[in-house]
Amino acid sequence: MSGGAAVLCGLGTWLPPHAVTNDDLARELDTSDEWIRSRTGIGVRHVADPATATSDLAVEAGRRALKSAGCEAVDAVLLATTTPDHPCPATAPLVADRLGLGTVAAFDVGAVCTGFLYALAAGAGLIAAGTASRVLVIGADMYSSILDPADRSTRAIFGDGAGAVVLRAGYADEPGVLTAPVLGSDGSGSELIIVRAGGSREPLHSLTRGQGDPYFRMQGQSVFRNAVERMAEASLTAARRAGWSAGEIDRLVAHQANLRILHAVADRMRLPRQRCPVHLDQVGNTAAASVPLALAHAVTSGCLEPGHRTVLTAFGGGLTWGACAVRWPAITPA
Ligand code: UT7
Repeated sequence: MSGGAAVLCGLGTWLPPHAVTNDDLARELDTSDEWIRSRTGIGVRHVADPATATSDLAVEAGRRALKSAGCEAVDAVLLATTTPDHPCPATAPLVADRLGLGTVAAFDVGAVCTGFLYALAAGAGLIAAGTASRVLVIGADMYSSILDPADRSTRAIFGDGAGAVVLRAGYADEPGVLTAPVLGSDGSGSELIIVRAGGSREPLHSLTRGQGDPYFRMQGQSVFRNAVERMAEASLTAARRAGWSAGEIDRLVAHQANLRILHAVADRMRLPRQRCPVHLDQVGNTAAASVPLALAHAVTSGCLEPGHRTVLTAFGGGLTWGACAVRWPAITPA
């Protein structure tokens, strides 16, 4: 292994089969199809059954990405997730084992909804360092396991799912090369998206004493504002690193959190809104799985084509954000 550029060469996705419509939610919570569609653009989300864990989703997406890449072996497995199977150990080694990938390097990446972008950057770094020549990068989340059943503002948004890509070592001028990813964080906003219990600050056993909050909490409006600013700024920087002006971006594949966020990011970048593929209407916000799921949907719907100057971007808890430019390669998602 001698290092080199990281080239996207496979893409796979998996959604749990059970779909929950806005009307289904309205039968349980004080909400409506009209509110959810007009405030978020979301129509349906997929929810895993309680016997499923994040590794199950990750294995399905990972297997499909390997098939799409036509490869059976990799040197590392990176899993971006906020909902690991257990607090300890990481879920990636289990996924690598279940995929039959042997004793390869495997670790989880925790950057909430930006996790896939962070994991892509880490995978590209392993390739540049010569540590790996092929890396499986998976984003998988099962937010149904951390949402408060009574919280209509988060239940309306989040869905479960997984998406994965294969990176291989290649040359800087190939289609599919990831151009120097842009990553950022601002821990002063760590309270805006948080699961309080289950870590060292509020250990799980605090729950058994009737203290602590085990559920995912989000301050929607502040997150909304930050998401728009950070994704627009990071995307413009990523495009600049690739040598493109903002207007030259053919597709901006952004974290699918809210249709109003996608539109606001496009407007801020002076990009026609049609250049931002939309997938959230069918899956909601799937956290770390959102970008690869949106990529696969954009390809299969004919919206994203080989040669397109594409920017991927995401924003999430931490706060964290990221963006990366790639001239889209000829990939058939599986
Ligand atoms: O993936 C990580 C990044 N996450 C995001 O980017 C999410 C960003 N935030 C958002 O997408 C939006 O802030 C939300 C969709 C979460 C909320 O939309 P909003 O337009 O910001 O609503 P709001 O939080 O200002 O709430 C307005 C009202 C409130 O009622 P009151 O207090 O005005 O009476 C909420 O209780 O809407 C209410 N509300 C709902 N009503 C019906 C919140 N959720 C719902 C709901 N159905 N599902």
